[in-house]
Amino acid sequence: MSTNESPQRSRLDPEPIPRRDFLGMASLWATASTLAFATLGMLRLPKAAVLSSPSKKFRAQLPSTLLPGVPFIPVGRSVALFRDEQGVHAVSITCTHLGCIVKPSATGFDCPCHGSRFAPDGKVIRGPAPAPLPWRKVTVDGDVCLVDEDVSVPVGTKV
Ligand code: FES
Repeated sequence: MSTNESPQRSRLDPEPIPRRDFLGMASLWATASTLAFATLGMLRLPKAAVLSSPSKKFRAQLPSTLLPGVPFIPVGRSVALFRDEQGVHAVSITCTHLGCIVKPSATGFDCPCHGSRFAPDGKVIRGPAPAPLPWRKVTVDGDVCLVDEDVSVPVGTKV
């Protein structure tokens, strides 16, 4: 008996797959799975991959100790609320130059990005801001203010 002979195969053993057939099947599977993933990717395209932003309308309760001329900026919002004898108004705190959030200062608002300065009513004191800070719509319901950051109102509108 020679040692080079292949071992005796049983009739129940599966037929060995020739290498050429195996490689052909592997390339077919690779092609099919690539097409499947590409199709899934294309089906996802119409859905925008962005997060929804919070509503631009919000309710805020002014602190009872808020003094006239002192801004109240609700957390996470881009308006400053003021209360005085004539009523309540809201001034946007988004700089009209390139959109930085301005900070309250002794003279109104200062922009930390490029140095614009605004009066408390939003007028430009020093550029480069090209336009005043817009006033936003406010409605008052008892102690609660409903502010709409998307709606501008004429300067001087107080409720
Ligand atoms: S973004 Fe405010 S001055 Fe430029």
